[in-house]
Amino acid sequence: MRILVIGGGGREHAIVSALSRSAHKPELFCAPGNGGTAALSINAAITIEDPANVVEWIERNPVDLVVVGPEGPLVVGLANLLEAAGIPCFGPKASGAHLEGSKLFAKELMERRGIPTGRAAAFEAKEAALAYLAEQAAPIVVKADGLAAGKGVTVAMDMDAARDAVKECFDGRFGPAGEVVVIEEYLEGPECSLLAFTDGETVLPMLPAQDHKRALDGDEGPNTGGMGVYTPVPVVDAATLAAMTDILERTVAGMREEGIDYRGVLYGGFILTAGGPKVLEYNARFGDPETQVVLPLLKTDLVDVMFATAEKRLSEVTLSWRGDAAVSVVLASGGYPNDYLSDLPITGVADAEKVPGVTVFHAGTRLAHDGTLLTAGGRVLDVTAVAPNMAEARERAYEAVGRISFEGMHYRTDIGLKALQALEEA
Ligand code: GLY
Repeated sequence: MRILVIGGGGREHAIVSALSRSAHKPELFCAPGNGGTAALSINAAITIEDPANVVEWIERNPVDLVVVGPEGPLVVGLANLLEAAGIPCFGPKASGAHLEGSKLFAKELMERRGIPTGRAAAFEAKEAALAYLAEQAAPIVVKADGLAAGKGVTVAMDMDAARDAVKECFDGRFGPAGEVVVIEEYLEGPECSLLAFTDGETVLPMLPAQDHKRALDGDEGPNTGGMGVYTPVPVVDAATLAAMTDILERTVAGMREEGIDYRGVLYGGFILTAGGPKVLEYNARFGDPETQVVLPLLKTDLVDVMFATAEKRLSEVTLSWRGDAAVSVVLASGGYPNDYLSDLPITGVADAEKVPGVTVFHAGTRLAHDGTLLTAGGRVLDVTAVAPNMAEARERAYEAVGRISFEGMHYRTDIGLKALQALEEA
């Protein structure tokens, strides 16, 4: 069995790692992969932004399944091309990935289906958006409609920031992604991600996880791709989890009834308001870094789950999970999320993995010709610890973090702290 994983971040390293534990012993390829996936799979130098390159590579190197990590290739139709070529794909076709590719499309689907979400209005012209803003109050959320590498959402705490965000979109900061702007009600509450496997009929939720988007402790500083994550999430009780699951099921049913055959992961980004969970956004893929804490706890063979998803047999699968806690701390390059240096030597990864329960997933790394591990991105490593409880998972993660270094390395010191506080208050 040969499986190709598309992508090269911490999420893909976690996917490759979970696939490598399969009883099917698949031969794994990762494109482009990173310094960590190289130890478990063969890194394939494919320019994944163009789906035709992937299909061309597979014609020369046949595989039994393609697993797509990032949203970009899904939105431009990689799964459609693979289907046309008769190659099973884990990941939705462009019509399903549009749920992530267009915030307006997602909002309209939620409105049609009565799915709880913030009130929103969409604009195709700057003047109309600014006129609407003149009648609103801060805080308020401004979103570029399309994919903007996680930078297209502004939570404006005053109206000047909201107006600036609208102008940035229409003045071309995000290219075509900013040609439509969605202005949305600000919602209060903790955020939580719930990812689910779905074959368009059956929906199997994974474990809730809480990401930390801001760069600095205490949720301060600029937004990032995610600085750390933990699971389980104590503020998610059984009723909240049932409500979130119901929302994902209704989303999949809504897509099905509207002719979208969605197979892969549906990611619900939720805010847990006083009135219950509401959807902030959907993603059409595994979360990054959520995957780095969720998949290590999956006991079910991921190869079986992925084939069942791609072949629409997910009703045959039951997921089972380790009852442990997991914490993942992102080690980032100096300057991230703004400009940063690359190609800096990293030390201590092997030593960090000697801490019990610790796995270091590589996000932005590469191996030099002499085997030296170098930084190669903004988020460099995801130091992930699994333990019987949250306090121990946090301790193990930070003990491992202390063994790693590279010039300029920075990280948050409070990942998992909110969970501990919630547990103390309970
Ligand atoms: N954790 C945020 C994302 O995957 O988009």
